Amino acid sequence: MVANKKGKKEKVIDVLNKARAMELHAIHQYMNQHYNLDDKDYGELAVKMKLIAIDEMRHAESFAERIKKLGGEPTTQREGSVKTGQSIQAIYKSNAEQEDTTIEAYSQFCKICQEQGDTITVRLFEQMIEKEQIHLNYYENTSGHIKILGNIYLAKIAGTASDTGSSRGGASGSAD
Ligand SMILES: [Fe+2]
Ligand SMILES: [Fe+2]
Repeated sequence: MVANKKGKKEKVIDVLNKARAMELHAIHQYMNQHYNLDDKDYGELAVKMKLIAIDEMRHAESFAERIKKLGGEPTTQREGSVKTGQSIQAIYKSNAEQEDTTIEAYSQFCKICQEQGDTITVRLFEQMIEKEQIHLNYYENTSGHIKILGNIYLAKIAGTASDTGSSRGGASGSAD
């Protein structure tokens, strides 16, 4: 019975660490895009990218906190390598794909936690899915604007402020 309980916990810790590794990748990917967009003087897009990277930091920490509560060790490894030197079109297309993949993975992880009877972790994954959905919508919308409006859209963004104003709050507006 005790061994069975330990096995259940280990399965939950394993998916939490997989999710954390995905978050660590997203943080690095979005930070890289943030300073490149800033360097190209697309202030508004750069600010939003920075805020989303901060959202992903909060997610990575939420997963770590839960892993620690379960007696596990949070991973420091990220899943996949960071793409560099992307065109502005490629950034939004690939980020939308990444968020979509994340939502799919978290839905699977959520199911595994349900099977293990860990309702707290199930809730954590459900909350994360909602937050990633906000990112996905934003990337899809921006990708659409760039595709349909092209330079007209980008001309409106060029030269806009790149100041986040405050270090508090992320793109999904949550304070956790
Ligand atoms: Fe995330
Ligand atoms: Fe995300």
